[in-house]
Parts: sequence; structure tokens; C-alpha cells
Amino acid sequence: MVPDEVLAPPRAAPQFIDLLAETVDPRGELTAALLKACASIPPKYFYDRLGSRLFEAICELPEYPLTRTERAIVDAHVHEIAARIGPGGVLIDLGAGNCEKAERLFGWLAPTQYVAIDIAADFLRDRLNVLAERNPQHSILGIAQDFTQAIELPEEVARGSRVLFYPGSSIGNFAPEQAFSFLQRTREACGNDGHLLLGVDLVKDKRLLDLAYDDPLGVTAAFNLNVLRNVNALLGSDFDVGDWRHIAFFNEEQSRVEMHLEARRAVTVRWPGAERAFAAGGRIHTENSYKYTPERLRETLKRAGYKWVAMYTDDAAGFAVALAGA
Ligand code: AVJ
Repeated sequence: MVPDEVLAPPRAAPQFIDLLAETVDPRGELTAALLKACASIPPKYFYDRLGSRLFEAICELPEYPLTRTERAIVDAHVHEIAARIGPGGVLIDLGAGNCEKAERLFGWLAPTQYVAIDIAADFLRDRLNVLAERNPQHSILGIAQDFTQAIELPEEVARGSRVLFYPGSSIGNFAPEQAFSFLQRTREACGNDGHLLLGVDLVKDKRLLDLAYDDPLGVTAAFNLNVLRNVNALLGSDFDVGDWRHIAFFNEEQSRVEMHLEARRAVTVRWPGAERAFAAGGRIHTENSYKYTPERLRETLKRAGYKWVAMYTDDAAGFAVALAGA
């Protein structure tokens, strides 16, 4: 028999706010995107529960080194990063995903509150419950929100200097002008004493980028195709995953990796109130992943209003971590 007091008491789940209903209606947005001359699906729809897990699997692939390289860069410079930021701020994780990247900073930044924001509500809730058990001394707030249009922080976010954390090269999903206005909004959210810690994938050999987004195991293909299952759930559409093929390549002219889904045969997709016919070989554009040079990144951050920028890269200059001060 184990005496009662030896068993850990049940811990309260961290505070969680779901603001998804207040932003865009997915049905309107998806219908508009699918009916455009060049059909598309915004990449945020990749991240249902399975999609979030498939992205985690992508990060384990030897062909997709982004996550590991970013971790190594942060590890190598975390002492300096923490010294520049100073302890006791509010750590705001934009697109927190599984929250692993931010958790590694806890010991260094000693945040008074950790705010994890993500569009993948179910996945975030799952991971925050586990995170809270491992870090009982930390104040944790989860927010399900689409922050790509506006960064609106509810009053539950603690006061104090803010550290905006935007890792993993998620900024690559924005076209350059959108990325610039997004960085301006992070600059505003920083107030007059905050910081931005940003991870960005860099331009590199086309063969490496093609492989990183079209891996031989087919994990990225599954991640891309899974968006159709999520769209079916959200829109009530009748996409058949078997009708579609994964396409990914680095577009050097635009400095971006593009992902598409290509119809294997002529198909008509139907959902309440609309339908769209695709010829064999017709495509749906599902993602852009822009790649930067360190110079362009530094210049964009300065132009967005950041006063100073420190830039850290790996030896092969495959990935950059920028620390910018308000
Ligand atoms: C999470 C947007 C940074 O663009 O590299 C990975 C998503 N897509 N493989 C990226 C992704 C295909 C990823 N981001």
C-alpha cells in the first residue's frame, strides 16, 4: 500500500483561452481560397491534431534539419541571449506547437509567465497539460488564436517586459510584404522594453531545399495531403486524398519553397453551397516557405522599427536566429 500523501496531488490544468471563434470563419475563408482561379488552402489549416503530429515527425527527418539547427544555435548562444534580454519577462510564444522550443528557455529566462499561442487548439491544450506537470513552478497561459492578422493579447497576459518568441521559420509562410507588416506588429507588441527572438531558415542549395520538403519517406507528402482531411472536416467537402499528389520544390526566383497538391485525375470537389472542378494535373497551392539571407533579415527587422539586431547562425549558415531589441 502506498500512503496517500506519497501520491502527487492532481494538478490544475493551466489557464486556457480559446479565441478562435472570434477570428475568421474557416468556411468563408476556405471557400474563397478554393474558388480563386489559382486554388489555394492557407497553410494554417495543416495543423489539426494529426497535422501537428506529422509536423513533429517532419522535424525528426534527416532531410529537414531546421528544428535541430535552430536548437543548436540557441543552445550555443543562450547565455548571451539571456544576458541581453534579462530575467523575469513575459515569454510569448507565437505558434507554440509542442512548446518544446520555449521550454528550453525557461531556465535561462526565468519568465514570470509563459504565454503559448497557437491555432492548433486541441494539440496545444494537450501539450500544455503535460508542460504544466513538468513545470509546476511556472505560470502558464494557453491561447488558441490566429495571430497572423493581428496580435491581440487578452488581459490575462501578465504585465512586464515582453519577449516575443517566433521560432522555426514560421515567418517563411508570409510573403515578404506581409512578413514586414507582421514584424511591425511584433515590434508594437514589444512595447518600449521588449525583445523579439526569431528563427529564420536561410537560402541554400536548391537540392537540399527540394529534399527537405519532398523527403523519400513521404512524411511531408502525408503532412501536405492531410490538409484535405482537415478541410473536409471544417468545410464539409468531399476531397478524396487518393485523388491527389504531393508536389514541393524550391522556386529560386521567388526565394521560396512551394508546396502544391496536384490532381491525379479530373475531379470535382463539392461542399455545401459550392463546388470546384479540377482537370487532371490541376493544382492547389498549399504553402510558401520563404528563405532569407542574413542581410535581408537584418534589414527587414531594422525597417520594422527594431533598434538593434544580433544575428546568430550555424557554421554552414543554413539557419539564423535573430535577437532584436525594441
Ligand atoms: C512550420 C512553416 C516553418 O515551412 O518549413 C515543413 C512547415 N512544411 N515541411 C516550413 C513545413 C513542410 C514549416 N513551417
